[in-house]
Formats: sequence, C-alpha cells, structure tokens
Amino acid sequence: ARWQTCLRLARELLLVGPDDEDLKLHYLHTLIDTGRLGPTHHPRKKILVIGAGITGLVAGRLLKDAGHDVTILEANASRVGGRIKTFRATKHHQPFDDPAQYAEAGAMRLPDFHPLVLALVDKLGLGRRQFYNVDVGPGTGSGPDVPVPPVTYTSFTGRTWTYGDDSPDFREPDKRGNSWIRANRTQVRRADYAAGPERINEGFHLTDDEVRAPVVKMVDDALESVRDHYSDVVDGKRVNKPFDEWVEGWARVIRDFDGYSMGGFLRDHAGLSDEAIEAVGTLENMSSRLHLSFFHSFLSRSDINPGVRYWEIPGGSWRLPHALYEGLRDEVRLGHRMIRLEFHDPSRDTDPEGTGAVGPDRWGVAVQTVAEDDPQAPPRLWTADLAIVTIPFSALRFVEIVPSMSYKKRRAIIETHYDQATKVLLEFSHRWWEFTEDDWREELDRIAPGLYEFYQLGGEPGTGEVSSFAGAGSGLLGAAAKDSGVTEEMRQLNGSLPLRGPAVRPATHCFGGGSAADNPNRFMYYPSHRVEGSTGGVVLASYCWSDDAARWDSMRGPERYVYALRNLQALHGRRIEVFFTGRGATKSWARDPYAFGEAALYTAHQMTSFHLDVSRPEGPVHFAGEHTSLKHAWIEGALESAVRAALAVHRAPTVTTPGRDAGEECR
Ligand code: FAD
Ligand code: ARG
Repeated sequence: ARWQTCLRLARELLLVGPDDEDLKLHYLHTLIDTGRLGPTHHPRKKILVIGAGITGLVAGRLLKDAGHDVTILEANASRVGGRIKTFRATKHHQPFDDPAQYAEAGAMRLPDFHPLVLALVDKLGLGRRQFYNVDVGPGTGSGPDVPVPPVTYTSFTGRTWTYGDDSPDFREPDKRGNSWIRANRTQVRRADYAAGPERINEGFHLTDDEVRAPVVKMVDDALESVRDHYSDVVDGKRVNKPFDEWVEGWARVIRDFDGYSMGGFLRDHAGLSDEAIEAVGTLENMSSRLHLSFFHSFLSRSDINPGVRYWEIPGGSWRLPHALYEGLRDEVRLGHRMIRLEFHDPSRDTDPEGTGAVGPDRWGVAVQTVAEDDPQAPPRLWTADLAIVTIPFSALRFVEIVPSMSYKKRRAIIETHYDQATKVLLEFSHRWWEFTEDDWREELDRIAPGLYEFYQLGGEPGTGEVSSFAGAGSGLLGAAAKDSGVTEEMRQLNGSLPLRGPAVRPATHCFGGGSAADNPNRFMYYPSHRVEGSTGGVVLASYCWSDDAARWDSMRGPERYVYALRNLQALHGRRIEVFFTGRGATKSWARDPYAFGEAALYTAHQMTSFHLDVSRPEGPVHFAGEHTSLKHAWIEGALESAVRAALAVHRAPTVTTPGRDAGEECR
C-alpha cells in the first residue's frame, strides 16, 4: 500500500493523468488556449467559491465563462489577491514617500518553468520583464523595447507547447555577482565567492575539501544521487529516464526520502559536516528550513537557483489578480468571511442541528459568513449546488464544518505545516546600490559639501567640515530626503543603538539581485528595474522565512525599519542612511488574518501521510489553492489547482434535486 501511495504521489507531483496524459498540457489548453472548460452533461450549476486569491479568481472566471452561476466569497473587505499583494499608493494609503514607488509584500518572481502563470500574464496583456535574482551588468541585454520570448513548456510526452511569438533579438543581460555575501564578519562579492570560496568558508570552520567548494556545489553534489533515481546524465546534462522508469524513480525517491528533513538528509544521508550544513544553510537560505521536509528544499533547489530566469509584472504583482477581478465584479463579494460550512454528502447523515438548507432534496452546500466591517451583524447564509474552498488550511482550521469531513482530510487541516515569511522594505530617495564610488562622491557632496569626506574619515560626530551637520548621533538619517519621514521615535531608536559597521563600504554598484548575510536581515534584494520618473527605490532589506522571520514578528514596524536599516548598513556602510526616506513597509504573513501563514510547506512524512487526501472532494465540496498542489509557495501551484477544481466542478452532477430554482439565495 505504501508503494501505491508513493506511485500516486509521484504521478501527482509530475502531473501525470489517469491515462498517462500530461495534465499540465490539459491545464494550459483549458486556461490559456481556449479559456473554456469544455462540454458537460450538467450545465449551469450554482457554485460558491470561497476565497478571492488567485485560485478563487481563476476558478471563478472559468466557471462563469462556462455559464455557471458563480459567487466568490472573500473575507477581506478591501482587496482581492490574497498572498499576491503589492504595497502601493491607493486612494486611501500611500506607503512610500514617492507615490510612484511600490514593492511586493508577497509573490514577486515568476520562474521560466511556470508556464501557466507566465502565459496568463501574457494573455491578460499585463506585460512582463525579467526579475533579476542575480544582479546584472547595466546596459547589457536587449533592453525594454525588444519583446520577451514566448512561454514554452516541454511535456514528458515529447510535445512542446508555446504561447507568444519568437523574439530572435531578445538577449539576456550579463550576470555580474556584485552583490554581497557576508558571514562571520567576512564580506565578499558573490562573483568573488564563486571564484574563491575559501575566505567565507573558513569563517564557518570548514576544512579539507569542503573549504574549497562553493556551498551551492556541496548541496548539488549531495542531491545528485537522488536525481539518479529518475534521470541520467547525458553529455553533462540531466535527461529524464523513459516514462515508466521516470515515474517509478520519483516514487522511490518519495518512498526513501519523504521521512527526512533536509537537515537530516544532508547530515545522515549525504554525510556533510555540521559546519558545511551551517554554511549551506546560511548562504543558500536553508538554515531556517533544515527542519522542513527534504522534499520542500529539494524541489525548490530547481526553482530558486542562479541558472533560472525569472519574470515580474511591471507595476506590481497585484495587477494579475486585479485584471481577473475586473471581469468578476458582480461575482466577488468582498468582506464576507466564511465561519461555517455545511454540506450534504449522500453517503453521510445530514446534521439534525444544521441550518436545514442542505439535504437530499435541498442544496448541496450552505456557507455562513460574518461581515468583516460589521462583525455584530447576524451571519449570512449562502447556498449552492457545489463549492470550491480555496482558503489556506491554516484559515480553514477556524471554520466549523458539518458533517465532519473524512479522517485524513481532518488531519491535513489540523497538521499541514505553514511556514512564516516576513519582509521589511525600506525606501531610499536615491538608488545608492547602483552607485559607483564617483557617484557616491557626487551625490553626498550635493547634499552638503564635504559630506563624502566626512564619511571617508569615519563619519564620527565632530570630524570633517560637516561636523555641525552631523552633530546629533543620528542627525544624518534621511538627510537627502526632502521632508523625510524619519520620525522622532526612529531617531531615538537609531540613536540608542551602537553604531554598526564602518561608515563606508566599497560601492555596491549592483543592478537587481540580492545579498545574503548571517545578520537578522538574512536576504536583501535590490529592485530589478527603476520606477519610471523616480530617482529612488525600495529595497527589500529583509526577506526571511521560518525562524528567521519569527524574530522580526516580535517587533513593531518602526523598530523593524531601524534594525533593518542597521543591518543593511553593516553590508553597505553607514553612509546609506542619508538616503533613507523614513518610509518603509513590512509584512508578516504569519500574522496575516487572511493567510495565517506564508504557505503550506510540509515537514517530514506529511506528503506521504496525507497529501493524497488534501484535494479529494468531500461530497459537493471541492478543494483548491496553493496547498493542494505540490508546488507549495508558488502561484503556478495555485493555478494548477484552480483549473483542476474548476474542471471537476464543471463536470460534476448536482447532488441535489434537479428543477429547483438555481438562481435563488436561500436567506
Ligand atoms: P491566497 O492567496 O491565500 O487566497 C486565499 C483567499 O482566501 C485570500 O484572499 C483570503 O483573504 C481568503 N480567505 C481566507 N480565509 C477566508 C474565509 N474564512 N472566508 C472567506 N475568504 C477567506 N509565488 C510565486 O509564484 N512567486 C513568488 O515570488 C512568491 N513569493 C511569495 C512570497 C511570500 C512572502 C508569500 C507569502 C507567497 C509567495 N508566493 C510566491 C506564493 C503565492 O503568493 C501563493 O502560492 C498564491 O498567491 C496562493 O494563492 P491562493 O489562492 O492559493 O491563496
Ligand atoms: N515562492 C517563494 C519565493 O519565491 C518561495 C517561498 C519558499 N518559502 C519558504 N519558507 N521556504 O520567495
């Protein structure tokens, strides 16, 4: 039975359908090529979709276009999109000093091998440009006027699917690696680390062969023996084994390794030293995830790696859900939080305590909601033939469900591990990360003649000619920003912290990409593109997961900004302070009352113990969302689940009596 489970999981992971067809091709055909769910014997059903994240919006759109009567219930009273959220100026709120500036609170990068989301972005006409995970050479590449390449997907069936036109003139910019790695008080540029990892590796007390290997190679080497189960190396490249062996190879990997955490795997299976694991964890963003399942990091090694090309949506990721919302204004009901879900399953008894709305000759589902902006108002009841629940299991945990669902589904809702992710974003009036040393001199002296020299001399109050300017401990915070938003509270916090790092570090001169450090910021990302008409930019000063994120969650906003700035200064020199506008934005997904966590990321054993039950319908209730896919923490997984569930609901018979008025709302 365990082998059968592993085989079925492998098929689900690889999107192999019941007749060995490629479900990804099917989903691309449905969502992108035709936008149609196809023929059904059961047209026009009344369907409730719970959640207006990307999953709910896509499923809702497909079902509406197929002629069904769709209502999408969304708890959030002010916006759709869920974990796709952009901090940006709206009628009611302006997060940054410059109203043109924006930054991502959630999803920010779309990998090349996620064709559903890329093609959807193109189909909706949103435009797309590269997101640089590794910084690039300015002025290299074909530039913004050359169209981007088409979206392509090569199936295991041998078929290649394409969306968009060829763009023979498209050239990627050159990768540079000017961004930083800083650990154990040693700091080098990424490119220098790749060429000579010893200095950084010695800081981790690595010895022998380990000291000479960049950590990325250590992890990749450790994973090679796992990859051998399902692929072969041919002319230096990995090629999948023939179909049956490929699927069985993955099933073996699931059987043999799902019980490992990534930390356990690296230590016990791959034989890495503790020190090597510490280095890998720090630099490859794995420390905070070593306790999570081997599979999570194993799958994401191929997702987030320097060789992969990423894309972003100009103007912000919010434009994707928003574009779908435009066509669903009548269907989406904002501000209605589901608190109770009642359904009729012919194989189970109807709850005598229930609302009476569901039953063999009544509706299939009845959902009770409370109004977000009026919690005292009596709950509202919504009825339908079928429902698709897209809310995270972390949120579903607080919904009363009657009758109780199947055992394993209940376990999955209770146990699915949700990770935490926290971002701290800081706005600067100038893009100092792009500066050369000459730019630094020019820009600092423009603020106050002698300011460049002041920092060169150590930036201590009382030194150089700008001493009066720099009188107070943090007098230079925000000095370049007109009407800086630096508050008295920030100044006091900043003044009370010991100075960190030298006044000057070598100019970063970096376009896009990110730095990694062992300080609490951990991962820092510089914007891939300038915002039109703006001299400044927003730096993702800290992007943390798991325990790294939890540390930030204990702090209030202003504290986060001051500490994030401090830790940014440790890598880039204290002088960056003059460009801080005093404005920032921060998001802790573990504290978000709509997400209750970042994303479903399994711990060891969870995939084999309940993943197959996660998306299994319970009577007329279907399940979709990022967590029901095996592309956890990616929009692509959410989209796969949306098309899967929409197709299933479209084809499903109504479980209730035909002929009842399908348009009526029960109460
Ligand atoms: P959600 O977006 O969570 O949608 C669920 C909806 O249900 C929400 O709108 C919520 O308000 C609503 N809801 C919750 N409870 C109730 C209730 N009781 N009643 C009614 N409605 C309710 N993906 C990428 O592809 N690239 C990235 O770079 C990327 N980075 C990420 C970074 C972060 C920090 C995070 C948090 C996620 C990131 N992701 C990324 C993942 C991606 O954002 C998600 O996988 C995807 O948005 C999930 O969509 P969903 O519809 O499944 O869930
Ligand atoms: N899609 C996310 C990103 O691009 C990956 C998040 C993984 N999260 C985690 N806790 N490991 O950033």
